[in-house]
Amino acid sequence: MTLWLAAAALAALSGILYLSWQSRCPQMLTLSVPLPDLPAALDGLRIAHLSDLHSNCFGPRQERLLAQVRTAAPDLIVFTGDLVDERVRSLEGCLALMQGLVQIAPTYYVQGNHEQRLEPGQLAVLLEKLQKAGVRCLDNEALSLTARDGTEWLLCGAAPVSCRTARNTDSHAQAMEGNLRTLAQSLPSGDGFRLLLSHHPLCCASMARDGYDLVLCGHTHGGQCRLPILGPLTLPGASDRAYVKGLYSVGKTTLYVSSGLGNSHLPLRTFNRVSWTLLTLRRPPQSNT
Ligand SMILES: [Fe+2]
Repeated sequence: MTLWLAAAALAALSGILYLSWQSRCPQMLTLSVPLPDLPAALDGLRIAHLSDLHSNCFGPRQERLLAQVRTAAPDLIVFTGDLVDERVRSLEGCLALMQGLVQIAPTYYVQGNHEQRLEPGQLAVLLEKLQKAGVRCLDNEALSLTARDGTEWLLCGAAPVSCRTARNTDSHAQAMEGNLRTLAQSLPSGDGFRLLLSHHPLCCASMARDGYDLVLCGHTHGGQCRLPILGPLTLPGASDRAYVKGLYSVGKTTLYVSSGLGNSHLPLRTFNRVSWTLLTLRRPPQSNT
């Protein structure tokens, strides 16, 4: 009997340690992304893609996570929404992360649906403090950036869709479609390289239609709880099951969905450790013929 009790206690302890490791120990993923129309000057560009922190905490002032990003030495950093969880009153940990990131590389941010759940006053405080820290918040707008050799390219950020106005996947998709159309209409014409940040991987065919070469998204948490063979068990509302985690091709557009750094309603992860990704953009090898 004592042996059975000891075995049960050990199994319970192992389970708790495993779940804690999945949610509390961030993993750095590395990915080389071949892009057919990448300008030569952007070949080798290293982008740290973080998403969906949901007010998770990785040590005092997020130092465990920041140390990973610092060591990776990216050229630029992007954060694709759900930095906060509205049920956590303090913004301190979220701001510490973003304040630390801007010390490493230029940092760009788009909001997610959880920012839209903050009280309007609290959201205004968050955005003001991010701006003060030097984070560039993109709200359905595009920035023209210049590469080392003077090549201009566009970094675009889609506006988030609010759960207050869009209550199901169809209405999310409709609102998202409107945001994408407005953003596309504001872009300069031309075939320069276009990178889009969007919290939701929704309306991906429209993103391809609008000529984005690369789209970086979050929102799905990779299904949060996954099982081998079965894949994702849980997905947040307004998710497209076709784009849950990893790299996809949509027409000529390459789409990457991060499984994120935190949890939302279900505070658990299995076979899907919290992570961020260092993407290296690559031109495909040039043929000699
Ligand atoms: Fe999220």
